[in-house]
Amino acid sequence: MAPSVQALVLVGGKGTRLRPLTLSAPKPMLPTAGQPFLTHLLARIREAGITDVVLGTSFKAEVFEEYYGDGSSLGLNLTYVTEDQPLGTGGGIRNVYDSLTADTILVFNGDVLGGTDIRDVVTTHSESGAEVTLHLVKVSDPRAFGCVPTDASGRVTAFLEKTQDPPTNQINAGTYVFDRRVIGEIPVGRPVSVEREVFPSLLAQGRHIHAHVDNAYWRDMGTPEDFVRGSADLVRGIAPSPIIAQRCGEALVLDDADVAANAVLIGGTVVGRGATVGSGARLDGAVVFDGAMVEAGAVVERSIVGFGARVGAGALVRDTVIGDRASIGARCELLRGARVWPEIQIPDGGVRFSTDV
Ligand code: GTP
Repeated sequence: MAPSVQALVLVGGKGTRLRPLTLSAPKPMLPTAGQPFLTHLLARIREAGITDVVLGTSFKAEVFEEYYGDGSSLGLNLTYVTEDQPLGTGGGIRNVYDSLTADTILVFNGDVLGGTDIRDVVTTHSESGAEVTLHLVKVSDPRAFGCVPTDASGRVTAFLEKTQDPPTNQINAGTYVFDRRVIGEIPVGRPVSVEREVFPSLLAQGRHIHAHVDNAYWRDMGTPEDFVRGSADLVRGIAPSPIIAQRCGEALVLDDADVAANAVLIGGTVVGRGATVGSGARLDGAVVFDGAMVEAGAVVERSIVGFGARVGAGALVRDTVIGDRASIGARCELLRGARVWPEIQIPDGGVRFSTDV
């Protein structure tokens, strides 16, 4: 018997805003509180009682199947549909159409960390009788997002691009419920954006798109700043995840990591497997990937240290992304959005913001 609800997770994006970390790993597979980010989302889907999940892959497609296989270790039946050329969010949804058997399809952006009960979104969809339901969240500053106004009955009235003067604080949370036949109407064989083309076109035709609005935890993990915040929120129990049984406190230190007794780990810091943190180092909201090294006296704040990378003694790293196996020399200062490419070696004292010697 066909399942009543199937899920599709879009994971085919290139994740350009998270480069250089996404040069070697697709964004949904980046480690987040000890697990690939996607595992947290798949566990939420499973928790909602949905077991049939399709992953819509493109960029680095093979990585997903190698890691998750048939999905049975997560209690899921996982299948993979790959776009040879990325088809965008709408094209990616259309591309899996032949693999869908349920009448109701839940679609997720693969980079959203959320706390909404997925079942409630499906219930809103079935109760309203809409053809598509969008999960919307209310945010304090909607200017950075497209916003989605609704009427008094909860029906979506427009799908607006970013503006300095948004008419509502409701934004698209990147989770949708589709009646399967609507997916069949998306144009085939060319890139299509679900946000810029599919939803506006359905609204222009007067079709019923409904909203499920709430204030639950929500974060798009697409930028370094959001990735660092989301990771810290998982560690501190601010963002819920079914695979983190309880809040870990101020820091999560994974297996075989070696942290000096007098190092300070706060702000939801994660120290990856086999990573080392030297004496007197201070990590505040740091995400240290597996096998990386933070040497004595270094300070790492709100930054990501890639796989096998090194932060030299006494260095200051703040709001920075350090690529895999890069080496930051002792006493360097990297601040405010700096990105160090993989394998790059910066000599001791080689980058400074201050004029002290
Ligand atoms: P940026 O390049 O940093 O914008 O990241 P991105 O490529 O992931 O794009 P975006 O954050 O807008 O994508 C939202 C979700 O859709 C992510 O989970 C992506 O993996 C996914 N996605 C984006 N483009 C495609 C695509 O062409 N095909 C598929 N299958 N998924 C996509």
